[in-house]
Amino acid sequence: MSTGTRIFSAALFVFAVIGVGRFLLVEPEPAVSGERTEQTARRFQSAQECRACHQDVWDEWYGSHHQIAYLNTEVRALSDDFRNKECQACHLPQPIEVTGFGQRTLPRKTRPDEGVGCIECHVDGEGRVMGTRDLPGAPCAPRARDEMADVVHCESCHNQHWTTDQWRASSYPEKGIGCNDCHMPEVARQLADGTTRKGRGHGYAGAHDTAMLKKAGTFTVTRDGAELVLALENTGAGHNFPTEERHRVVDIDYRFIAADGTEGAWERAYRFRQPYRDEPGENTQLPAGERHESRVAIPDGTARAEARLWYRLKPYISDDDPASTLLEEREVVIE
Ligand code: HEC
Ligand code: HEC
Ligand code: HEC
Ligand code: HEC
Ligand code: HEC
Repeated sequence: MSTGTRIFSAALFVFAVIGVGRFLLVEPEPAVSGERTEQTARRFQSAQECRACHQDVWDEWYGSHHQIAYLNTEVRALSDDFRNKECQACHLPQPIEVTGFGQRTLPRKTRPDEGVGCIECHVDGEGRVMGTRDLPGAPCAPRARDEMADVVHCESCHNQHWTTDQWRASSYPEKGIGCNDCHMPEVARQLADGTTRKGRGHGYAGAHDTAMLKKAGTFTVTRDGAELVLALENTGAGHNFPTEERHRVVDIDYRFIAADGTEGAWERAYRFRQPYRDEPGENTQLPAGERHESRVAIPDGTARAEARLWYRLKPYISDDDPASTLLEEREVVIE
């Protein structure tokens, strides 16, 4: 064999091996229902892989605070661009199954644009999909895990400021209402065969969603003799209102307007908040199901009173700051 032929056959051989190798690496055909074996089960590493078949779920998740957890400019500012490594454990975590449901997560180094994504919530240490049902015939072969639909799924990351503890202390557990019943509303999923099945929204509306915030409380303003009574009841949040981050604030503000039209200044009747660790004061968040009432003396000559319920993402900002959301407005005619 000439050198040329030898190189040629060697090249052919390498090509053949790569070819066979590539063939072996190619996705196995989806198994017939129930016949998928452990050997052929696929190992998932990125949300992009799920997107190919679950575009609708991807669209809900993409842009959510779970997806942006590591890119979020608010978080970057406070963590010194994640030089504070402690912050990465929940904002760029390893899959929760790896560290254990309900346990503190550990940080990862990859896929910064996937923050808390499909892999972190759905994939176990072996790269297999976890769901609420066993579907061995589906291409991703999800396996049922009881923890998936349980509060323990959220607890690893959401109990730093006691949100899951607040839920446990409320009447929601005995009513059988968990985090997902409010944060993952039911949606219809279109399947390939044209039928639909029940699904769960993956947008996780919370403190950045006005409609969600408006659901949390019932605000009433009434007159009782010479006093204005401003009350807030937590009728719609499954935990304290506001919950989580210590920045979050709910304010009840009011002002009086005199008979001659003179507008008094806006005053604060009450602030619901968990103070920063180094700040004086108690936790005044409103637990689920509880009602708080403030009473203010009505000055002589008042024609009417106005009251506002505010939600603020940060405590020391003005009403016209975009991080302040006006939830409710009330007017009471005095005379
Ligand atoms: C090759 C296509 C494909 C890929 C890739 C894929 N899936 Fe699936 N998945 C399906 C199909 C088809 C079903 C069954 C039909 C349905 O219920 O949507 C399914 C079902 C599921 C279910 C169960 C739904 C139920 O009714 O209980 C979960 C959970 C799930 N997939 C999550 C994932 C996640 C997370 C990823 C990425 C890690 C992924 N899938 C990747 C096609 C795929
Ligand atoms: C134990 C898990 C955990 C750790 C560790 C953690 N966070 Fe968070 N962080 C969360 C969760 C859960 C939320 C969502 C709840 C909320 O917004 O109140 C959040 C939300 C935030 C927000 C609000 C984002 C917004 O857009 O409003 C900021 C800012 C933030 N974290 C900064 C940090 C910083 C800085 C660190 C490190 C000192 C850190 N986090 C460490 C779990 C964690
Ligand atoms: C691996 C950690 C992790 C898990 C598990 C997790 N979350 Fe989160 N979640 C976060 C982080 C981090 C944020 C905030 C990211 C940001 O704003 O930068 C967040 C944000 C949210 C928000 C939006 C808050 C807002 O201010 O808009 C809601 C609602 C939420 N999570 C609910 C849940 C529920 C319900 C579960 C359980 C099914 C869950 N999360 C599981 C880490 C997690
Ligand atoms: C009965 C409905 C309901 C249940 C149950 C519920 N939530 Fe909420 N959640 C709300 C409402 C309404 C808000 C908006 C008001 C607020 O921030 O407290 C909210 C807000 C949040 C936020 C945004 C906080 C922030 O500062 O960004 C997070 C995170 C959250 N919930 C997580 C959870 C977790 C985790 C569970 C389960 C332990 C849970 N929720 C159970 C209704 C519910
Ligand atoms: C914060 C955790 C979390 C993230 C991130 C997440 N999921 Fe889920 N997912 C859940 C939970 C919890 C359930 C089960 C809800 C239930 O039945 O109570 C679920 C259910 C599902 C289901 C079955 C129900 C349905 O709506 O069709 C599919 C499919 C699914 N997820 C796919 C995905 C894909 C794909 C991604 C990424 C684009 C993703 N999930 C991201 C927690 C998550």
